Amino acid sequence: MARIVAGVATSHIPAVGAALDNGRTTESYWQPVFAGYEFSKKWIADLAPDVIIEVYNDHATAFSLDIIPTFAIGCAPEFPIADEGWGPRRVPPVVGHPELAWHIAQSTILDEFDMTIVNNMAVDHGLTVPLSLMYGQPKAWPAPVIPLAVNVVQYPPPTGNRCYNLGKAIRKAVESYPEDLRVVVFGTGGMSHQLQGPRAGLINAEFDNAFLDELIADPAHLAQRPHIEYVREAGSEAIELVMWLIMRGALDDRAKEVYRYYHVPASNTAVGHLILENPGLPQQRIAETRIEYGMPQLDEQPEDVADEVVV
Ligand code: DHB
Ligand code: FE
Repeated sequence: MARIVAGVATSHIPAVGAALDNGRTTESYWQPVFAGYEFSKKWIADLAPDVIIEVYNDHATAFSLDIIPTFAIGCAPEFPIADEGWGPRRVPPVVGHPELAWHIAQSTILDEFDMTIVNNMAVDHGLTVPLSLMYGQPKAWPAPVIPLAVNVVQYPPPTGNRCYNLGKAIRKAVESYPEDLRVVVFGTGGMSHQLQGPRAGLINAEFDNAFLDELIADPAHLAQRPHIEYVREAGSEAIELVMWLIMRGALDDRAKEVYRYYHVPASNTAVGHLILENPGLPQQRIAETRIEYGMPQLDEQPEDVADEVVV
């Protein structure tokens, strides 16, 4: 059976991708951003997931005002890198996992989520920048990626609660897939930012950190937050954060924080990053990685999940 073993949340700032592509990661402005992902790169290399389900938003790149799916799942074997105006990023094409993607489409649609099936889609910075932050600059992405695009660009986006419940439906879908696959779900976008109008440049660190706390500890409550609160408190583009609730819904209630990072400034947006692991992963591996990075140890896992070893 396939299992969701962990979740990753991260901002997807395009200028971060450009800094990496143009060899500027050690410049004083960018260095702290990339330093914030050093642990994460080691963590994901150690975990070596079989498949990534990446929840992201398209920024009027593959979709336009002509067609705006609320939720769209990429079922293709490969997704080309989009040209967002400066030529496609020089990163490997994204290889999909059509069998699992079609299975998730079938399961979630029969669970009454109106998922759009997409067989031809270029992917923009919303999808590629998180991969770059987690994997650096490999010749090929180490895992197939199922893109799951969410409309957060044209009002009305889906509610946080709808997103949270879609995450749960994705978990159910994955757990009914017969092959033994270890799946990691990415939730991308956010944190606070507004890119236009009189409030352009707005950052709200207090809001962002409270969001991270609640996403870990009480996601069902966080899912009730109305859109207007995101926009008013954290800027118009902070609405991208509803996508993090899909990732959280796909994980166990008892998922644990493995790593957290928050940094301002980076372009116009607060960089937020979180890694959560489901119960059952061997804690020894995490402990060793944390010692290596000088980080405090996590609490013990609860007894009742000690036998759920999936790796
Ligand atoms: C920026 C952030 C985004 O999420 C985005 O989609 C575009 C730009 C920025 O910080 O500049
Ligand atoms: Fe964005």
